[in-house]
Amino acid sequence: MTRQANGGEIDAVRALGPQEFEQIRQLAYRTFGLDLKTGKEELVSARLRKLVRGGGFHSFQDYYKSIVADRTGVSLLAMIDALATNHTSFLREPDHFQFLRDQVVPGLGTRDPIEVWSAACSTGEEVWTLAMVLNEALPNRRVRIAASDISNKALGFAQRAVYPTERCHGLSAAWLARYFAAEGRPPVGYQATAALRAQVTFRRVNLVESYSWPHPFPIIFCRNVMIYFDRQTQERVIAGLCQHLEPGGYLFVGHAESLTRVSHSLEYVRPAVYRKPGKKEARWNK
Ligand SMILES: C[S@@+](CC[C@H](N)C(=O)[O-])C[C@H]1O[C@@H](n2cnc3c(N)ncnc32)[C@H](O)[C@@H]1O
Repeated sequence: MTRQANGGEIDAVRALGPQEFEQIRQLAYRTFGLDLKTGKEELVSARLRKLVRGGGFHSFQDYYKSIVADRTGVSLLAMIDALATNHTSFLREPDHFQFLRDQVVPGLGTRDPIEVWSAACSTGEEVWTLAMVLNEALPNRRVRIAASDISNKALGFAQRAVYPTERCHGLSAAWLARYFAAEGRPPVGYQATAALRAQVTFRRVNLVESYSWPHPFPIIFCRNVMIYFDRQTQERVIAGLCQHLEPGGYLFVGHAESLTRVSHSLEYVRPAVYRKPGKKEARWNK
């Protein structure tokens, strides 16, 4: 901010121009698949302005040039953190968890541990929900969740696993008592217990790049991220997810992410749930 003679303040950053928007749009698309359509100029400007100003740049053009010139990739990561939408909540789209418990878990056979991948886990609410649902459904099995996201900031939050009380409203008193420790008196937040946290490993995965896992998963949750991708990118991401899914394995996507226009090799099970065809390992019950 620059102080004016009358004591008011003006923003020293020049407004985002069409060419600057186009440069940032292309960079975001290339690096993490984000499809910023025309009309998102204000959103881009609002989400990046703090970084532009904080870096001492006077224009989005200078800011853009600095990202491209930064060989460490740090400024690109900061841009991705700022542009990505991290909205999530405990038990989001609850029928997925009901279906998981009632229909998927009984088919998992005797496998132990049960391993699930939460791709694009954001700040972790989906991860802890999965862990709690599976612990409740399979009290005598080991539950392992692989949690990933492109955003280091979101991953850091998820790993600390401390949630202000207003973000815990979806959780029952029984789950709060069993799986969380209150912070403050009266509680201002809750942290997932060390036992719950020990069931989860976090890593950064960019779904539009290639990545590997040591073995395929019987269950993958990849919800509410493909909504930000165009059809071509969605197809690439689904193909990648399929490679990491066991035959017979389930893919859960967000309810807003219908795959009807996307070509893929999965069987439709019910809204926002798909299954990989092919010969299942003997350990699947059904
Ligand atoms: C809206 S949140 C979804 C969180 C959770 N899955 C849910 O449904 O509540 C979308 C997440 O996708 C992540 N994301 C965006 N682009 C990505 C990419 N190319 N690879 C991996 N994660 C990405 C964002 O950082 C963000 O945390």
